[in-house]
Amino acid sequence: MKVTIVGAGNVGATCADVISYRGIASEVVLLDIKEGFAEGKAMDIMQCATTTGFNTRVSGSTSDYTKTAGSDVVVITSGIPRKPGMTREELIGINAGIVKSVADNVLQHSPDAIIVVVSNPMDTMTYLTLKATGLPKNRIIGMGGALDSSRFKYFLSTALERPANDVQGMVIGGHGDTTMIPLTRLASYNGSPVANFLSQDALDKVAADTMVGGATLTGLLGTSAWYAPGASVAYLVDSILNDQKKMIPCSVMLDGEYGQNDICMGVPCLIGKNGVEAIVDVNLDDKEKALFAKSADAVRNMNDALKS
Ligand code: NAI
Repeated sequence: MKVTIVGAGNVGATCADVISYRGIASEVVLLDIKEGFAEGKAMDIMQCATTTGFNTRVSGSTSDYTKTAGSDVVVITSGIPRKPGMTREELIGINAGIVKSVADNVLQHSPDAIIVVVSNPMDTMTYLTLKATGLPKNRIIGMGGALDSSRFKYFLSTALERPANDVQGMVIGGHGDTTMIPLTRLASYNGSPVANFLSQDALDKVAADTMVGGATLTGLLGTSAWYAPGASVAYLVDSILNDQKKMIPCSVMLDGEYGQNDICMGVPCLIGKNGVEAIVDVNLDDKEKALFAKSADAVRNMNDALKS
């Protein structure tokens, strides 16, 4: 199984690293317009093979898309990341051009690939990729909900003082500081609602911390985060390549689901070898439905910026 990652920066290279050491794919090709950068990242990762103990073949190239031929999955992380104080939405102009040309290039050599869009503003970049390529909607998946949900579970586990792996929770909606919706009502600890263990104030704080989780890290690091984003992409790629049919919140085109049309935003999906194999209908209460509709308005405004 072959994966191409376009953009060998912080997120792309971390994703390649996780895919390799977990043996998720047999081959990873990294591409980056910075001369020699992808080659260097690939060589550095390959020099872990004997100490970490993996057999994945990782290679890099500056612009030779022929090396990506026959990829099963293509991940697009090329673009500019946020700096402190920036919103994801402020990246739209530059990243739209990059994402569109990258999608065109990869599809010339991997016409059957499933494309995972990571570049921000991710929901709008996913929508753009879908419209620009004309691919069926199951093959274009925006990654954001996997990351936001892992941050949500981290904050829940911290509040509960319990291991994160015993916590279940999901973030849906847009992938933005004000548009994402941590579903606290449905979160659980070892199968029991977290509301049995945490006060409403504590739950509200968890939700608020989750929503600014990316911005908090950008403030601390001086640029946006990469370990959890890279690992979240690898988690999604694993479910596709190995047909795991995991339920992962992803940004996908909605055709009436959750009351929305002609928009890509985060909803729970079953992810397998065909990409998005089903959109799962979670029973939202009225408050959550209203938040989802508000989030959709914000994502739609962002999509409109593509036309201007
Ligand atoms: P980075 O700056 O470390 O890496 C981006 C790389 O893309 C750079 O190495 C750059 O040379 C390369 N690049 C730019 N244009 C290119 C092109 N046309 N072809 C090939 N390579 C190109 O940035 P980082 O931190 O890896 O973030 C990448 C993107 O992912 C950003 O837009 C960021 O906002 C987004 N992101 C999205 C997340 C999500 O959950 N969806 C989470 C974290 C970051």
